[in-house]
Amino acid sequence: MTNTAQNTRIYIKDLQAHKGEEVTIKGWIDVRRDQGKLIFFDFRDMTGRAQGVILPSAPEAHVVGSTLRPEWVVEVRGKVNPRPEKNVQADKQNGDIELEILAIKVLNEAETPAFDIHADTREVNEEVRLKYRYVDLRGDRLQKNIRNRAKILQYVRNFLTALDFTEVETPILTKSTPEGARDYVVPSRLSAGHFYALPQSPQQYKQMLMSAGIERYFQFAKCMRDEDTRGDRQPEFTQLDMELSFATEEDIMAITEQLLIEIVTKLYPHKKIQQVPFPRIPYAESMAKYNIDRPDIRENKEDPNLLAFCWVVDFPFFEKNEKGANGVGQNGEGGGTSQWTFTHNPFSGTRADHFEKLMGAKASDTDLNTIIAAQYDIVLNGYEIGGGSVRNHQADALMKVFEIMGYPTETVEKNFSHMLHALRSGTPPHGGIAWGFDRLMMILENEPNIREVIAFPKTGEGKDPMMDSPSEISAAQMRELGLFVGKKGE
Ligand code: AMO
Repeated sequence: MTNTAQNTRIYIKDLQAHKGEEVTIKGWIDVRRDQGKLIFFDFRDMTGRAQGVILPSAPEAHVVGSTLRPEWVVEVRGKVNPRPEKNVQADKQNGDIELEILAIKVLNEAETPAFDIHADTREVNEEVRLKYRYVDLRGDRLQKNIRNRAKILQYVRNFLTALDFTEVETPILTKSTPEGARDYVVPSRLSAGHFYALPQSPQQYKQMLMSAGIERYFQFAKCMRDEDTRGDRQPEFTQLDMELSFATEEDIMAITEQLLIEIVTKLYPHKKIQQVPFPRIPYAESMAKYNIDRPDIRENKEDPNLLAFCWVVDFPFFEKNEKGANGVGQNGEGGGTSQWTFTHNPFSGTRADHFEKLMGAKASDTDLNTIIAAQYDIVLNGYEIGGGSVRNHQADALMKVFEIMGYPTETVEKNFSHMLHALRSGTPPHGGIAWGFDRLMMILENEPNIREVIAFPKTGEGKDPMMDSPSEISAAQMRELGLFVGKKGE
């Protein structure tokens, strides 16, 4: 009868507690150093690394050991020995112990990886990295990023739940929302010729939840926007989305600020927040002083652990529409004819002292850019990491916004009848915010782009080389969906 510890898998991080015992570990071969008589290995599991050695006294293990290669998956039985004093590496995990390998079982072999996961894979060609993302993710940096991301998710969930927020999932198959980017669309089989749109954000749903009496909502929401990808922009990204009833700008900003401060102090204690409370910079001042609406106010830009949060507030509600039609409605259909468009979100309200000005305004007015929205952006080290507003909770005010943007009443009633009806059905005053969760993670992890903090991101061309998406679909699928793809120009 063998003791049970021998057969039960021990995590590598727990080897210290088994000095002098025989144990079994399971994991990957990280490194192999074959010195003939002695074969050394670094083994790796999700909890870390440990060194093992096959001594000449274990001839069977030696035979297996000489065939093993990095990234093979193995089960190893061995004795946890203290290292001789001169071999102790105090700064290394398990640097004072060594597993004397008694037996090795190969659980799976591995082809030679397309790139070295010990090197900085940010240097590797992006297509190749993303094609073999499962190998890329094995590296220490990405393991850390993904696991820290999960810790923050968990922290946020606990924090908001304790403040009476309810986590609600909203649909992915939905209808166009006016967030300003192009929609991704999904054809409907049952309603041939009709399309769902993937949400650019859950904006309208979360407002419906306020109408529904949820009062405090949050969600880690997947948002899809068909726009050109950049370092801080992915076609598919995650928002920490919140909405609160009976809340003022101050309430929403206070919760955001407190949560951000806690995340940093509890989970990134080595980082320093430049200024608390976060400074508030009016939009006009930001443009005048920094020529940008997301200023990088760090006192020392060389310090990777300095976090300079600030709020940008007092945004103009409307701006002159350079492009012509407003991008509201069904994929551009029914765009407004006015010269004015919203700066952020047509559902925003005005600052309380500008409400009368909005209600008395006409599309032909020339000074509509002086109406200030109840809108705030949260900026970190020059990145916009979130934005939100207190909304127009009265249908008349929302209608007014669309009227100013030149929308015929019928178009608004058609595209937003649900919204208008909800507002007319007892919707409390409400407002919210959405954080660009990937951007926050990117900065906290000192990464140069958000692909490094997303498990399966897309390339700059919006492709997933691992899944080979987007890809063609079969002729049968096309027929079933009533779709026909013409050649360009047809
Ligand atoms: P907004 O459009 O400003 O607001 O989005 C909120 C935050 O999401 C992040 N973000 C992105 N992150 C990665 N890739 C992208 N393509 C991308 N686009 C935006 C930014 C941004 O600040 N419904 C409103 C929020 C509200 O009013 O409550 C909204 O979506 O960090």
